[in-house]
Amino acid sequence: MLEKYTDDYILNIIENQHCKTHTMLSSLLTVQDDIGYLPKNSINVVADFMNVSTNDVWGVASFYLNFRFDPPGKYNVEICWGPTCHIGGASELQQIALEKLNLVNQGDTEDGKVSLKFNTCLGACPQAPLISVNHKLHGKMDVKKFSKILDKLN
Ligand code: FES
Repeated sequence: MLEKYTDDYILNIIENQHCKTHTMLSSLLTVQDDIGYLPKNSINVVADFMNVSTNDVWGVASFYLNFRFDPPGKYNVEICWGPTCHIGGASELQQIALEKLNLVNQGDTEDGKVSLKFNTCLGACPQAPLISVNHKLHGKMDVKKFSKILDKLN
């Protein structure tokens, strides 16, 4: 199968990453941030770039649950369940998302439109509880507001 993102495209992403020190992890994160997932060929491109084996890169990429290997849904919904958000009511937000998206855990909806993820900290604790939709943060969230946001995803 022809890869949607060419090796050259991925190499360009890696070469232009913001981190001063280029590591295997920073390269994988940069690719995922840009494309939304790690296409198969990105593993080889990162391996060549870092001068390590493909197995080394697979080892790192498959260790971290944050990496995904297939395209995400049109909407990436993240719910923070870090300590501050947990105290602020993240459990109720998780519950309403699972119900509305017809999921039993984080993952993709059956139609592939929404990818739900539970995040350990979205980095804006004073705004807890926090969710994000396609990387846009929504703070001071409650079940009513979140329900409306979820209803609009189609
Ligand atoms: S714990 Fe939720 S944003 Fe930090």
